Amino acid sequence: VLVSATEMIKKAHEGHYAVGAFNINNLEWTKAVLAAAEEAKSPVMLGVSEGAGKYMAGYKTVVAMVKEVHDFMGITVPVAIHLDHGSYEGAKEAIAAGFTSVMFDGSHYGFEENLEKSKEIIELAHSKGISVECEVGSIGGEEDGVVGMGEFADPQECATIANLGVDFLAAGIGNIHGKYPANWAGLNFDVLGKIQDATNGKPLVLHGGSGIPADQVAKAISLGVSKINVNTELQLVFADATREYIVAGKDQEGKGYDPRKLLAPGAKAIQSKVVAMMNQFGSANKA
Ligand code: G3H
Ligand code: ZN
Repeated sequence: VLVSATEMIKKAHEGHYAVGAFNINNLEWTKAVLAAAEEAKSPVMLGVSEGAGKYMAGYKTVVAMVKEVHDFMGITVPVAIHLDHGSYEGAKEAIAAGFTSVMFDGSHYGFEENLEKSKEIIELAHSKGISVECEVGSIGGEEDGVVGMGEFADPQECATIANLGVDFLAAGIGNIHGKYPANWAGLNFDVLGKIQDATNGKPLVLHGGSGIPADQVAKAISLGVSKINVNTELQLVFADATREYIVAGKDQEGKGYDPRKLLAPGAKAIQSKVVAMMNQFGSANKA
């Protein structure tokens, strides 16, 4: 069964490790991430951006696909299906469609409006046993049309949202979606520490999890990060493995052009990357 992420993230926070939220785009991504979680014996969150939700023919289709794939594969580790960077309307739609976890990203609103809308989504989600993530400050860069200015989160604002009973909190600490530029200043641990203190130890979420140096990831986890979002990194390994297959002419050999063969190297690459990250984040063998 699919579960809310409340329990797995709470355990991660107490156990000083992080659960990965890996974005999915289609059937191959779903199978690869679930296979990785089972292989690593790790809890997992499947992230679905609004753009990816549309691409996969709507939230109901996504929920049906994930449930069926999960059962077909005989997955035994805890799995949450999570809306990533949801809008106010999108979060409500995902809740109605059967998502077990949602993020409401109100970071582009003024704080009062973010607060008001966050409160409403938290109440709605919790009335159905669904976990909720909200965002304060903003994550830099762009993901699926969601653009952030990269402002640091204000610890007092984080505390106010934390007090609404949000399950985990995304806070901008210099993290960026997509590839990190060469002149990136790194994560701001001072801000991260202040947020953790101000929120009385609310589990924190690190977005932009692709390409952050391992020592910074470890330090972020030690300061209260319990969920790490990864999207770009999986797209890169999928594209590289697919390109290699085609450049080597393997799509021309035998029936190598069969989509099931053509997409296999990319899917394998996603699975190995996810297993490696679960080991890095410390969630392996925690299911
Ligand atoms: O919400 C999703 C993540 O923050 C993904 O960021 O594409 O940089 O890994 P990323
Ligand atoms: Zn994000």
